[in-house]
Amino acid sequence: MVAGGAVLCAGDRIAWVGTDGAWPEALAPGPGCEVLDAAGGVITAGLVECHTHIVFAGSRAGEFARRLAGEDYAEILRQGGGILGTVRHTRAASDGELRALARARLESLLSRGVTTVEVKSGYGLDAETELRILRVVRDLDREGPWDLVPTFLGAHTVPAERRSDRGRYVDEVVEEMLPRVVGEGLARFCDVFCEREAFSAAESRRILTRARDLGLGLKVHAEQITRAGGAALAAELGATSADHLERVEAADVEALAGAGVTAVLLPGAMLFLRSAAPPARALRGAGVRVAVSTDWNPGTSPTPDLLLMGTLGCLAMGLTLEEALAGITAHAARAVGLEGDRGQVRIGARADLAVFRVTDWRELFYALGHRPASAVVKDGRIVFRSDGPS
Ligand code: NIG
Ligand code: FE
Repeated sequence: MVAGGAVLCAGDRIAWVGTDGAWPEALAPGPGCEVLDAAGGVITAGLVECHTHIVFAGSRAGEFARRLAGEDYAEILRQGGGILGTVRHTRAASDGELRALARARLESLLSRGVTTVEVKSGYGLDAETELRILRVVRDLDREGPWDLVPTFLGAHTVPAERRSDRGRYVDEVVEEMLPRVVGEGLARFCDVFCEREAFSAAESRRILTRARDLGLGLKVHAEQITRAGGAALAAELGATSADHLERVEAADVEALAGAGVTAVLLPGAMLFLRSAAPPARALRGAGVRVAVSTDWNPGTSPTPDLLLMGTLGCLAMGLTLEEALAGITAHAARAVGLEGDRGQVRIGARADLAVFRVTDWRELFYALGHRPASAVVKDGRIVFRSDGPS
Protein backbone atom coordinates (compact mmCIF):
# COMPACT_ATOMS: atom_id res chain seq x y z
CA MET A 1 0.00 0.00 0.00
CA VAL A 2 1.18 3.46 -0.89
CA ALA A 3 -0.19 6.04 1.54
CA GLY A 4 -1.31 9.22 -0.22
CA GLY A 5 -0.70 7.49 -3.51
CA ALA A 6 -1.58 8.26 -7.10
CA VAL A 7 -1.64 6.33 -10.36
CA LEU A 8 -0.97 7.85 -13.79
CA CYS A 9 -2.43 6.15 -16.85
CA ALA A 10 -1.44 6.74 -20.46
CA GLY A 11 -3.57 5.06 -23.09
CA ASP A 12 -4.53 1.66 -21.76
CA ARG A 13 -1.41 1.29 -19.57
CA ILE A 14 -0.32 2.31 -16.11
CA ALA A 15 2.46 4.87 -16.65
CA TRP A 16 3.47 5.54 -13.07
CA VAL A 17 2.59 4.66 -9.45
CA GLY A 18 3.78 6.41 -6.31
CA THR A 19 3.14 9.19 -3.83
CA ASP A 20 0.75 11.82 -5.15
CA GLY A 21 2.69 14.57 -6.94
CA ALA A 22 6.05 12.79 -6.85
CA TRP A 23 5.93 11.79 -10.53
CA PRO A 24 8.82 12.72 -12.81
CA GLU A 25 8.37 16.02 -14.64
CA ALA A 26 8.16 14.30 -18.00
CA LEU A 27 5.07 12.38 -16.87
CA ALA A 28 3.31 15.29 -15.15
CA PRO A 29 -0.39 15.23 -16.07
CA GLY A 30 -1.15 17.92 -18.64
CA PRO A 31 -4.31 19.97 -19.18
CA GLY A 32 -5.93 17.26 -21.33
CA CYS A 33 -5.61 14.73 -18.54
CA GLU A 34 -8.75 13.47 -16.80
CA VAL A 35 -8.39 13.43 -13.01
CA LEU A 36 -10.25 10.94 -10.83
CA ASP A 37 -10.14 11.94 -7.17
CA ALA A 38 -10.06 8.78 -5.04
CA ALA A 39 -10.95 10.99 -2.06
CA GLY A 40 -8.66 9.14 0.32
CA GLY A 41 -10.13 5.79 -0.67
CA VAL A 42 -8.26 2.64 -1.62
CA ILE A 43 -7.21 1.95 -5.22
CA THR A 44 -6.63 -1.65 -6.28
CA ALA A 45 -6.05 -3.26 -9.62
CA GLY A 46 -9.32 -3.90 -11.43
CA LEU A 47 -10.56 -7.11 -9.85
CA VAL A 48 -10.32 -10.30 -11.89
CA GLU A 49 -13.22 -12.76 -11.63
CA CYS A 50 -11.63 -15.98 -12.91
CA HIS A 51 -14.48 -18.56 -12.81
CA THR A 52 -18.12 -17.88 -13.69
CA HIS A 53 -21.07 -19.55 -15.37
CA ILE A 54 -23.13 -16.37 -15.92
CA VAL A 55 -24.81 -17.18 -19.24
CA PHE A 56 -27.87 -19.04 -18.01
CA ALA A 57 -31.63 -18.63 -17.75
CA GLY A 58 -33.97 -19.62 -14.94
CA SER A 59 -33.64 -19.92 -11.21
CA ARG A 60 -32.89 -22.86 -8.93
CA ALA A 61 -34.57 -21.50 -5.80
CA GLY A 62 -36.81 -24.58 -5.71
CA GLU A 63 -33.77 -26.83 -5.72
CA PHE A 64 -32.26 -24.74 -2.93
CA ALA A 65 -35.36 -25.41 -0.85
CA ARG A 66 -35.14 -29.15 -1.62
CA ARG A 67 -31.52 -29.25 -0.54
CA LEU A 68 -32.32 -27.41 2.68
CA ALA A 69 -34.97 -30.07 3.31
CA GLY A 70 -32.25 -32.72 3.07
CA GLU A 71 -31.92 -33.69 -0.59
CA ASP A 72 -28.48 -34.08 -2.09
CA TYR A 73 -27.01 -31.96 -4.94
CA ALA A 74 -25.61 -34.96 -6.84
CA GLU A 75 -28.83 -36.95 -6.35
CA ILE A 76 -30.94 -34.08 -7.75
CA LEU A 77 -28.65 -34.03 -10.82
CA ARG A 78 -28.96 -37.83 -11.20
CA GLN A 79 -32.75 -37.38 -11.25
CA GLY A 80 -32.52 -34.90 -14.13
CA GLY A 81 -32.58 -31.66 -12.13
CA GLY A 82 -29.69 -29.44 -11.09
CA ILE A 83 -27.50 -28.46 -14.04
CA LEU A 84 -29.99 -30.21 -16.37
CA GLY A 85 -32.80 -27.95 -15.13
CA THR A 86 -30.76 -24.87 -16.03
CA VAL A 87 -29.97 -26.47 -19.41
CA ARG A 88 -33.72 -26.71 -20.18
CA HIS A 89 -34.24 -23.02 -19.35
CA THR A 90 -31.13 -21.92 -21.23
CA ARG A 91 -31.97 -23.86 -24.40
CA ALA A 92 -35.43 -22.29 -24.37
CA ALA A 93 -34.09 -18.73 -24.05
CA SER A 94 -33.40 -16.56 -27.10
CA ASP A 95 -29.97 -15.10 -27.79
CA GLY A 96 -31.33 -11.68 -26.83
CA GLU A 97 -32.63 -13.00 -23.51
CA LEU A 98 -29.34 -14.70 -22.71
CA ARG A 99 -27.43 -11.54 -23.62
CA ALA A 100 -29.65 -9.38 -21.40
CA LEU A 101 -29.35 -11.76 -18.45
CA ALA A 102 -25.57 -12.03 -18.74
CA ARG A 103 -25.16 -8.27 -19.36
CA ALA A 104 -27.00 -7.46 -16.13
CA ARG A 105 -24.70 -9.86 -14.27
CA LEU A 106 -21.62 -8.23 -15.80
CA GLU A 107 -22.90 -4.80 -14.78
CA SER A 108 -23.26 -6.08 -11.25
CA LEU A 109 -19.68 -7.37 -11.29
CA LEU A 110 -18.38 -4.10 -12.78
CA SER A 111 -20.06 -2.09 -10.04
CA ARG A 112 -18.06 -4.17 -7.57
CA GLY A 113 -14.73 -3.28 -9.20
CA VAL A 114 -14.42 -6.32 -11.51
CA THR A 115 -12.93 -5.47 -14.92
CA THR A 116 -12.02 -8.94 -16.26
CA VAL A 117 -14.41 -11.90 -16.15
CA GLU A 118 -13.91 -15.49 -17.21
CA VAL A 119 -17.22 -16.88 -18.53
CA LYS A 120 -17.93 -20.54 -19.19
CA SER A 121 -20.48 -22.14 -21.45
CA GLY A 122 -21.97 -25.39 -20.15
CA TYR A 123 -25.73 -24.89 -19.93
CA GLY A 124 -26.30 -25.82 -23.56
CA LEU A 125 -24.89 -29.34 -23.75
CA ASP A 126 -25.56 -29.55 -27.47
CA ALA A 127 -23.47 -28.03 -30.23
CA GLU A 128 -26.00 -25.36 -31.19
CA THR A 129 -26.63 -24.05 -27.69
CA GLU A 130 -23.01 -24.28 -26.55
CA LEU A 131 -22.00 -22.19 -29.58
CA ARG A 132 -24.89 -19.80 -28.98
CA ILE A 133 -23.71 -19.22 -25.40
CA LEU A 134 -20.13 -18.59 -26.52
CA ARG A 135 -21.33 -16.14 -29.18
CA VAL A 136 -23.23 -14.28 -26.45
CA VAL A 137 -19.95 -14.07 -24.53
CA ARG A 138 -18.15 -12.81 -27.66
CA ASP A 139 -20.83 -10.15 -28.27
CA LEU A 140 -20.76 -8.94 -24.65
CA ASP A 141 -16.96 -8.82 -24.71
CA ARG A 142 -17.16 -6.55 -27.77
CA GLU A 143 -19.76 -4.37 -26.03
CA GLY A 144 -17.43 -3.91 -23.05
CA PRO A 145 -16.20 -2.07 -21.03
CA TRP A 146 -15.19 -5.34 -19.36
CA ASP A 147 -12.84 -7.93 -20.84
CA LEU A 148 -14.30 -11.42 -21.00
CA VAL A 149 -12.28 -14.64 -21.12
CA PRO A 150 -14.42 -17.32 -22.81
CA THR A 151 -14.20 -20.95 -21.71
CA PHE A 152 -15.87 -23.91 -23.42
CA LEU A 153 -17.46 -26.21 -20.83
CA GLY A 154 -19.45 -28.54 -23.08
CA ALA A 155 -18.36 -31.29 -20.68
CA HIS A 156 -20.35 -29.88 -17.76
CA THR A 157 -22.54 -32.95 -17.51
CA VAL A 158 -24.07 -35.52 -19.87
CA PRO A 159 -27.33 -34.08 -21.25
CA ALA A 160 -30.61 -35.90 -20.61
CA GLU A 161 -30.93 -37.14 -24.22
CA ARG A 162 -27.50 -38.86 -24.04
CA ARG A 163 -27.80 -40.43 -20.58
CA SER A 164 -28.09 -43.91 -22.09
CA ASP A 165 -25.10 -43.34 -24.40
CA ARG A 166 -22.59 -41.11 -22.66
CA GLY A 167 -19.78 -42.22 -24.96
CA ARG A 168 -21.64 -40.63 -27.84
CA TYR A 169 -21.79 -37.32 -25.96
CA VAL A 170 -18.04 -37.37 -25.28
CA ASP A 171 -17.54 -38.09 -29.00
CA GLU A 172 -19.71 -35.08 -29.85
CA VAL A 173 -17.70 -32.83 -27.53
CA VAL A 174 -14.39 -34.02 -28.96
CA GLU A 175 -15.26 -34.42 -32.63
CA GLU A 176 -17.94 -31.80 -33.24
CA MET A 177 -18.12 -29.11 -30.58
CA LEU A 178 -14.40 -28.51 -29.91
CA PRO A 179 -13.45 -28.09 -33.59
CA ARG A 180 -16.40 -25.75 -34.20
CA VAL A 181 -15.67 -23.69 -31.08
CA VAL A 182 -12.02 -23.34 -32.08
CA GLY A 183 -12.90 -22.79 -35.73
CA GLU A 184 -15.05 -19.79 -34.80
CA GLY A 185 -12.45 -18.56 -32.30
CA LEU A 186 -15.03 -18.64 -29.51
CA ALA A 187 -12.95 -19.89 -26.55
CA ARG A 188 -9.58 -19.35 -24.95
CA PHE A 189 -9.93 -22.26 -22.49
CA CYS A 190 -11.60 -25.65 -22.27
CA ASP A 191 -12.91 -26.82 -18.90
CA VAL A 192 -14.33 -30.19 -17.77
CA PHE A 193 -16.41 -31.10 -14.71
CA CYS A 194 -14.35 -34.10 -13.63
CA GLU A 195 -16.71 -35.70 -11.14
CA ARG A 196 -18.49 -39.00 -10.45
CA GLU A 197 -21.81 -37.48 -11.62
CA ALA A 198 -20.21 -35.85 -14.67
CA PHE A 199 -17.03 -37.00 -16.46
CA SER A 200 -14.43 -39.56 -15.37
CA ALA A 201 -10.72 -38.75 -15.38
CA ALA A 202 -10.35 -40.86 -18.55
CA GLU A 203 -13.14 -39.00 -20.36
CA SER A 204 -11.79 -35.68 -19.10
CA ARG A 205 -8.29 -36.57 -20.34
CA ARG A 206 -9.64 -37.31 -23.82
CA ILE A 207 -11.55 -34.01 -24.00
CA LEU A 208 -8.77 -31.86 -22.57
CA THR A 209 -6.05 -33.47 -24.67
CA ARG A 210 -8.02 -32.69 -27.82
CA ALA A 211 -8.62 -29.14 -26.60
CA ARG A 212 -4.91 -28.70 -25.94
CA ASP A 213 -4.07 -30.04 -29.42
CA LEU A 214 -6.47 -27.47 -30.86
CA GLY A 215 -4.63 -24.70 -29.00
CA LEU A 216 -6.91 -24.03 -26.02
CA GLY A 217 -5.69 -23.51 -22.47
CA LEU A 218 -7.04 -25.98 -19.92
CA LYS A 219 -9.07 -25.75 -16.73
CA VAL A 220 -10.60 -28.49 -14.59
CA HIS A 221 -13.48 -28.54 -12.10
CA ALA A 222 -11.58 -30.89 -9.82
CA GLU A 223 -12.32 -32.78 -6.63
CA GLN A 224 -15.43 -30.75 -5.76
CA ILE A 225 -17.77 -33.49 -4.48
CA THR A 226 -15.70 -36.66 -4.86
CA ARG A 227 -11.99 -37.26 -5.51
CA ALA A 228 -12.36 -38.16 -9.17
CA GLY A 229 -8.78 -37.43 -10.30
CA GLY A 230 -9.19 -33.96 -11.79
CA ALA A 231 -6.32 -32.35 -9.88
CA ALA A 232 -3.80 -35.02 -10.90
CA LEU A 233 -5.08 -34.69 -14.46
CA ALA A 234 -4.70 -30.89 -14.37
CA ALA A 235 -1.09 -31.35 -13.26
CA GLU A 236 -0.42 -34.06 -15.86
CA LEU A 237 -1.74 -31.94 -18.73
CA GLY A 238 -0.24 -28.65 -17.52
CA ALA A 239 -3.62 -26.99 -17.01
CA THR A 240 -3.69 -23.28 -16.27
CA SER A 241 -5.99 -23.82 -13.28
CA ALA A 242 -7.64 -26.49 -11.16
CA ASP A 243 -10.80 -25.23 -9.52
CA HIS A 244 -12.78 -26.19 -6.36
CA LEU A 245 -10.36 -28.77 -4.80
CA GLU A 246 -12.47 -29.44 -1.70
CA ARG A 247 -11.49 -33.14 -1.79
CA VAL A 248 -7.80 -32.94 -2.76
CA GLU A 249 -5.27 -34.99 -0.83
CA ALA A 250 -1.58 -34.38 -0.15
CA ALA A 251 -0.42 -36.07 -3.37
CA ASP A 252 -2.72 -33.80 -5.42
CA VAL A 253 -1.37 -30.70 -3.70
CA GLU A 254 2.20 -31.79 -4.53
CA ALA A 255 1.24 -32.48 -8.15
CA LEU A 256 -0.42 -29.07 -8.57
CA ALA A 257 2.58 -27.33 -7.00
CA GLY A 258 5.03 -29.25 -9.19
CA ALA A 259 3.15 -28.40 -12.37
CA GLY A 260 2.62 -24.72 -11.52
CA VAL A 261 -1.18 -25.04 -11.78
CA THR A 262 -3.09 -22.15 -10.19
CA ALA A 263 -5.69 -23.29 -7.65
CA VAL A 264 -9.04 -21.51 -7.86
CA LEU A 265 -10.94 -21.69 -4.57
CA LEU A 266 -14.68 -21.07 -4.58
CA PRO A 267 -15.97 -20.29 -1.09
CA GLY A 268 -19.51 -19.57 -2.31
CA ALA A 269 -19.95 -23.08 -3.75
CA MET A 270 -18.34 -24.60 -0.69
CA LEU A 271 -20.78 -22.80 1.61
CA PHE A 272 -23.82 -23.34 -0.61
CA LEU A 273 -23.20 -27.12 -0.81
CA ARG A 274 -22.02 -27.24 2.81
CA SER A 275 -18.81 -28.94 1.61
CA ALA A 276 -15.62 -29.39 3.54
CA ALA A 277 -13.03 -26.66 3.00
CA PRO A 278 -10.21 -27.21 0.52
CA PRO A 279 -6.77 -27.31 2.20
CA ALA A 280 -5.83 -23.71 1.46
CA ARG A 281 -2.93 -23.65 3.92
CA ALA A 282 -1.42 -26.84 2.47
CA LEU A 283 -1.76 -25.42 -1.05
CA ARG A 284 -0.06 -22.17 -0.07
CA GLY A 285 2.57 -24.06 1.94
CA ALA A 286 3.43 -26.11 -1.14
CA GLY A 287 3.83 -22.89 -3.13
CA VAL A 288 0.61 -23.11 -5.14
CA ARG A 289 -0.78 -19.76 -6.32
CA VAL A 290 -4.33 -19.51 -5.00
CA ALA A 291 -7.03 -17.50 -6.76
CA VAL A 292 -10.49 -16.84 -5.30
CA SER A 293 -13.70 -16.54 -7.31
CA THR A 294 -17.47 -16.39 -6.99
CA ASP A 295 -18.12 -19.38 -9.31
CA TRP A 296 -21.29 -17.37 -10.05
CA ASN A 297 -23.82 -19.95 -11.22
CA PRO A 298 -27.47 -20.76 -10.43
CA GLY A 299 -26.88 -24.08 -8.68
CA THR A 300 -23.99 -23.81 -6.27
CA SER A 301 -23.09 -20.13 -5.94
CA PRO A 302 -25.65 -17.53 -7.00
CA THR A 303 -23.59 -14.47 -6.07
CA PRO A 304 -21.76 -11.58 -7.74
CA ASP A 305 -19.95 -10.64 -4.52
CA LEU A 306 -16.25 -11.28 -5.17
CA LEU A 307 -15.08 -9.33 -2.12
CA LEU A 308 -17.37 -11.44 0.06
CA MET A 309 -15.65 -14.51 -1.44
CA GLY A 310 -12.37 -13.05 -0.18
CA THR A 311 -13.89 -12.68 3.27
CA LEU A 312 -15.13 -16.29 3.21
CA GLY A 313 -11.78 -17.45 1.87
CA CYS A 314 -10.27 -16.02 5.05
CA LEU A 315 -12.96 -17.20 7.48
CA ALA A 316 -13.79 -20.62 6.04
CA MET A 317 -10.56 -21.62 4.30
CA GLY A 318 -7.83 -19.96 6.32
CA LEU A 319 -6.48 -17.50 3.76
CA THR A 320 -4.77 -14.37 5.01
CA LEU A 321 -6.10 -10.96 4.01
CA GLU A 322 -3.09 -10.52 1.70
CA GLU A 323 -3.84 -13.88 0.06
CA ALA A 324 -7.49 -12.91 -0.37
CA LEU A 325 -6.47 -9.72 -2.19
CA ALA A 326 -3.93 -11.55 -4.36
CA GLY A 327 -6.60 -14.19 -4.98
CA ILE A 328 -8.95 -11.74 -6.70
CA THR A 329 -6.23 -9.76 -8.48
CA ALA A 330 -2.77 -11.09 -9.45
CA HIS A 331 -3.44 -14.79 -8.86
CA ALA A 332 -6.84 -14.60 -10.54
CA ALA A 333 -5.11 -13.03 -13.56
CA ARG A 334 -2.74 -16.00 -13.61
CA ALA A 335 -5.74 -18.36 -13.48
CA VAL A 336 -6.95 -16.92 -16.80
CA GLY A 337 -3.52 -16.71 -18.42
CA LEU A 338 -3.23 -12.94 -18.06
CA GLU A 339 -0.52 -12.78 -15.41
CA GLY A 340 1.49 -9.57 -15.56
CA ASP A 341 -0.95 -7.83 -17.90
CA ARG A 342 -3.51 -7.17 -15.14
CA GLY A 343 -4.28 -7.77 -11.50
CA GLN A 344 -1.34 -5.59 -10.43
CA VAL A 345 -0.92 -1.83 -10.07
CA ARG A 346 2.52 -1.45 -11.63
CA ILE A 347 4.08 0.42 -14.51
CA GLY A 348 3.30 -1.24 -17.83
CA ALA A 349 0.29 -3.19 -16.60
CA ARG A 350 -3.14 -2.60 -18.12
CA ALA A 351 -4.80 0.53 -16.72
CA ASP A 352 -7.64 -1.34 -14.99
CA LEU A 353 -8.32 0.06 -11.53
CA ALA A 354 -11.00 -0.09 -8.85
CA VAL A 355 -11.52 2.63 -6.26
CA PHE A 356 -13.25 1.82 -2.99
CA ARG A 357 -14.61 4.15 -0.34
CA VAL A 358 -12.53 2.74 2.53
CA THR A 359 -9.46 4.12 4.24
CA ASP A 360 -7.88 0.79 5.22
CA TRP A 361 -7.62 -1.90 2.49
CA ARG A 362 -8.48 -4.60 5.03
CA GLU A 363 -11.98 -3.15 5.24
CA LEU A 364 -12.56 -4.57 1.75
CA PHE A 365 -12.82 -8.00 3.37
CA TYR A 366 -13.81 -6.97 6.88
CA ALA A 367 -17.20 -5.77 5.62
CA LEU A 368 -19.39 -8.85 5.33
CA GLY A 369 -20.54 -8.38 1.76
CA HIS A 370 -21.93 -5.73 -0.57
CA ARG A 371 -19.21 -3.20 -1.15
CA PRO A 372 -19.69 -1.37 -4.46
CA ALA A 373 -16.72 0.43 -5.93
CA SER A 374 -16.85 4.22 -5.95
CA ALA A 375 -15.19 4.23 -9.39
CA VAL A 376 -13.84 1.77 -11.93
CA VAL A 377 -11.24 2.46 -14.62
CA LYS A 378 -10.89 0.12 -17.63
CA ASP A 379 -8.11 0.55 -20.18
CA GLY A 380 -7.42 4.02 -18.80
CA ARG A 381 -11.03 5.25 -19.01
CA ILE A 382 -13.48 5.88 -16.19
CA VAL A 383 -16.29 3.43 -16.88
CA PHE A 384 -18.20 3.41 -13.60
CA ARG A 385 -18.84 5.88 -10.79
CA SER A 386 -21.07 5.67 -7.76
CA ASP A 387 -21.79 8.21 -5.09
CA GLY A 388 -24.01 5.75 -3.23
CA PRO A 389 -23.37 4.24 0.16
CA SER A 390 -20.81 1.53 0.51
O1 NIG B 1 -18.84 -24.84 -10.38
N1 NIG B 1 -19.52 -28.03 -10.43
C1 NIG B 1 -20.00 -27.83 -11.53
N2 NIG B 1 -20.41 -26.67 -12.00
C2 NIG B 1 -20.87 -25.59 -11.18
C3 NIG B 1 -22.25 -25.80 -10.71
C4 NIG B 1 -23.19 -25.93 -11.82
C5 NIG B 1 -24.63 -25.96 -11.40
O2 NIG B 1 -25.01 -26.54 -10.37
O3 NIG B 1 -25.40 -25.38 -12.18
C6 NIG B 1 -19.92 -25.30 -10.06
O4 NIG B 1 -20.19 -25.52 -8.87
FE1 FE C 1 -17.85 -23.74 -11.61
